[in-house]
Amino acid sequence: MRFIFLIIFVSALILAEENSRFITEYEYGAALYTRYAKPSCADCHGKNGEGALVASYFNPKKNSESLIEAPKISGLSEIQIKNGIARHRLTRQYPLSDDEFAAIATYLAE
Ligand code: HEC
Repeated sequence: MRFIFLIIFVSALILAEENSRFITEYEYGAALYTRYAKPSCADCHGKNGEGALVASYFNPKKNSESLIEAPKISGLSEIQIKNGIARHRLTRQYPLSDDEFAAIATYLAE
């Protein structure tokens, strides 16, 4: 009997620990968005996901300047961000978890 109480007590402690995060969801998303990997999401998409020019080059076939732009991604939902990254051709497809996509969406929503 005591053993069962001990298990319940330890589980309650673990659950309580999970609910008291050291940083907020927004701060977690900000850290992932601005500092996760190099280059970071922010390096290409802008600090607040407003979109930015990544590079430009002279395209001899078109005889004109070609631009590579990172689209505006602020305000997108978690699912839209997840699916959007799956379409990344220029850069890699970051192996982020659902929790991490959710945190990034929280950061970009504000
Ligand atoms: C090297 C620059 C670069 C980095 C780093 C980068 N992206 Fe992108 N992203 C792009 C470009 C360019 C596109 C347009 C699709 C393409 O050509 O790859 C894009 C497309 C997207 C889209 C789809 C937008 C739409 O409307 O279709 C999302 C969402 C996105 N990126 C999110 C992210 C997140 C989140 C990160 C960080 C984990 C990130 N990207 C890192 C350049 C970048």
